[in-house]
Parts: sequence; C-alpha cells; structure tokens
Amino acid sequence: MSGTAIAIIAAVVLVILGALVLFGASRRRDSQTLLSRETIKKDKSDSTFLEPGPTGRDVERAAQVAYREPGTAVEAVADTGDTSPVLYAPVDPEVLGVTRRQFFNRSMVTMMGVGLGGFGASMLAFLWPGKSVGFGSTVQVGTLENVFAQIDQGNQPLYVSEGRFYLSRYPADSITKADKVYGAELAGMKAGLVALYQKCVHLGCRVPFCTTSQWFECPCHGSQYNRVGEQKGGPAPRGLDRFAIDTSGGKVAVSTAAVIIGPPKGTNTTGQEAEGPHCITSAAHH
Ligand code: FES
Repeated sequence: MSGTAIAIIAAVVLVILGALVLFGASRRRDSQTLLSRETIKKDKSDSTFLEPGPTGRDVERAAQVAYREPGTAVEAVADTGDTSPVLYAPVDPEVLGVTRRQFFNRSMVTMMGVGLGGFGASMLAFLWPGKSVGFGSTVQVGTLENVFAQIDQGNQPLYVSEGRFYLSRYPADSITKADKVYGAELAGMKAGLVALYQKCVHLGCRVPFCTTSQWFECPCHGSQYNRVGEQKGGPAPRGLDRFAIDTSGGKVAVSTAAVIIGPPKGTNTTGQEAEGPHCITSAAHH
C-alpha cells in the first residue's frame, strides 16, 4: 500500500473518530440529570432521597408538548366561566436554562461537525491521487505529424518544457546502426523520433540546441552532442539520457517516469557532423 493511501485512510479514520466523540459527548450531556454531581452525592450519602431528577430530554419533551398545545390550560379556565385575565406565570428558570444549554450544546456540536467534515474533505481532496501531469509522468505531445511539422518549421528539435525534453528527428537510414546500440528507445526512433532529456550528463546543466552547428552544446563546460544526443566532445561521459516514446495511434506520448541512460561515448549512429559554427567554443574542458 502506498504512503498516500495510508494517509487517506488515517484521515478518514480520524474524522470518523472525531465525529463519534462529538456525538457521544452531546448524548451524554442531553441525558444528564438536572441535579449537580455534588447534590446527587449528598442525597446518596444522607437520605432515602435517591430518585434522580428528570433528564434534560424529559424537560425538553414536556416543554415541546406544552408549546404544541397552548390552548389546553386557557380553555380549562374558560370552562369555569371565569373571564378574569390569566396571571402571568414566569418561565421556570431551570427549564429555560436546560433548553438554552441544549441549544448551545447542539449548535456547538453542529459547528464542530461541519468544521471537522470540511477539514476531512479538504484533506482527502489534497491527498487523493490525481492524474499526474508533466515531468515524471507520460507527457502527451500531440500527433506525430504535428511534431514533425514543428521540428521542420523551426529547423531545430522541439523543446517540450513540461517534460523537460527535446524531440529530435531520427533519420530512417540510420536505424540499422541504432538497432545495435539502443533498447527501449528504439521504438520511437523507428517512428522517426528521439526524446532527449535536457540535463547535461556531465554536471546537470540544461543543454540548449545550437541552430548553426545543429548540435546540442552545453554552456557550462562545453560538452557537445549531435542532433540525436550522441556525445561529440567535451567532458560529458556519454550521450544525452533519453525517454521512451510511444507513437501508437499516430500520437506521441513520452514516458518521463524512467530515464534511459544515454549511449556510451564514441557512439555515432548518424554520422552527423557540425553543420555550421558552434555556439559554444569548447575551450573550458574540465
Ligand atoms: Fe554540461 Fe558540464 S554540465 S558540460
């Protein structure tokens, strides 16, 4: 089980436990008698007066019945023929206190429940494994046709920042040589594309493409790689690392979850030489 799944389960359990505790607390308060703890203790210790008082629920129920049938008492008075006004009877402060306390208790429980529920929901939303995009997942670049068009139009590999790679054309007439060197990336090469990780295999700088030489040239220490990422010069110990490409259905999908280590130094399947002046004078070899 993954860490995320455990975190989600823990969050759900916490929220349920919290809700149970709150529910239990509210029930306990509702069923408490009107007598205080000391009074009950005193009653128990010195007399036969052991009857517990009415519960909060009883009082509330009685109040509700009285509220629903307000006419009963008045009618009884009217029946006697007495027309004098009924005297104001003050509300029993104890009854009032109980209902008010219940009101506060319940609103508190409701508010805490809502808060806890909201917290749980946001935790779940945060931890829920969403469909990941970008580097580390499979990056959908578009149709094969469209990718070729963009490369040709720009006269340089297509840079996909989302996946931190370049898509470069791989010449069809070099496939026989590539067959002997490459593995998982071969399928994409056969479709005419290679996905090169932008990170220099020397010390990790981002390697830009030099449009004049038509090579990748690292500004940090002058490593050079040809258009398909094979090492041509500088301190880089191998060719550029790469990613597997899936072109099924004419769509280009690059899996950046696993980096394929670049080909060893000296690999040269295309024989492409620099096509113009270099962008980086590879003077600073370390
Ligand atoms: Fe690119 Fe050193 S990091 S050459």
